[in-house]
Amino acid sequence: MMRVRAPGRVNLIGEHTDYNDGFVLPVAINREIHLYVQPRSDHCCLLYSETLDEQIEFQLDALPELPPDMLPGGWARYVVGVAAMLMHHTGRRLTGIEGVISSTLPTGAGLSSSAALEAAFAVLWNTLDNLHLDGWALAKLCQQAEHQYAGVYCGIMDQAAALLAQQGHALFLDTRTLQTRHVPLPREWLIVVADTGKPRTLSGSEYNRRRLECQQAVDEFRTVCGEAIVALRDVSLDNAALYLSLLPESARRRARHVISENARVLAFLDALTDADIHRVRHLMLASHASLRDDYEVSCPELDAMVSACMNAPGCIGVRLTGAGFGGACVALVERTHIEPFLQQAEAAYRAQTPYTPQFLVCESVEGATVSLQAD
Ligand code: GLA
Repeated sequence: MMRVRAPGRVNLIGEHTDYNDGFVLPVAINREIHLYVQPRSDHCCLLYSETLDEQIEFQLDALPELPPDMLPGGWARYVVGVAAMLMHHTGRRLTGIEGVISSTLPTGAGLSSSAALEAAFAVLWNTLDNLHLDGWALAKLCQQAEHQYAGVYCGIMDQAAALLAQQGHALFLDTRTLQTRHVPLPREWLIVVADTGKPRTLSGSEYNRRRLECQQAVDEFRTVCGEAIVALRDVSLDNAALYLSLLPESARRRARHVISENARVLAFLDALTDADIHRVRHLMLASHASLRDDYEVSCPELDAMVSACMNAPGCIGVRLTGAGFGGACVALVERTHIEPFLQQAEAAYRAQTPYTPQFLVCESVEGATVSLQAD
């Protein structure tokens, strides 16, 4: 029996920067997807999701080429997508499997359950079929699976976090060079995921639209500043003000968010290293305001959650996390104040919205792993 675990992620700062060649700082969290599978002697995959009470079956030698609408369960497309990408990349036929999937990772909260699912199957087949692919190769193939089989043109942050993160650390990632740095998290700070209970809506279509708008902003910059601008990453905060004024209104706001968010990630790294509460608070709140006003991916519930957390005892900083349009906020909270924080943040949020919030106090964990278990 093979056992796989793959974590969800929460992003501390650096939102909507990863498809602009920018910087991100996610943490893999101890809310995970678990697989318990046996290899088969044929190419059939038979998988049962305990969480959803759904079974899927497909043949690795006859994979559907398009998003597999014919398969029950939206999650099938991620599994089929990863299998397709691994086989295409390696030219190998993968081994059939049967088994069970269970999860402690909420879906729809913006904690990247889809990337966790992709990562779980990627490390599983990498081990089972001795593919010898490293974490980056797997992350890129999982990202391709998401593009081609789920139609979401995501960046690389979620898959990288699910595969490369280290326990006790945030993962600083330069999405242009793919350089990483494991940044220690202060022990006296806790990471709290504050789920608004408001399901994410329009996240796929609006996400793809934002991506397109960023590309349009790059095209505008190129006509003004020349070919050196390949991505919004190439515009620095220093010269942004001048150039931004030349862009049409909506492109200007999208670009301003991305350019300023990249600068905030770099400043946040220093603030985190110094455990500087004041700066961390300022940077997280500025990130939220920029996502709300310039990038327009917040909603009343996320804004209510930010103010509920911010006014609760022990809150260091808080902002929306993930793609937005509903889902969760991430808060950093002083360990010594966690109980009153949770009580007061929940009460304040409930007083402002009809949704039932969920607060998850998280530990940081390492990326996906596979182990062998006696049957
Ligand atoms: C989703 C995507 C990521 C990233 C975030 C926003 O989680 O999958 O690649 O773009 O949104 O920061």
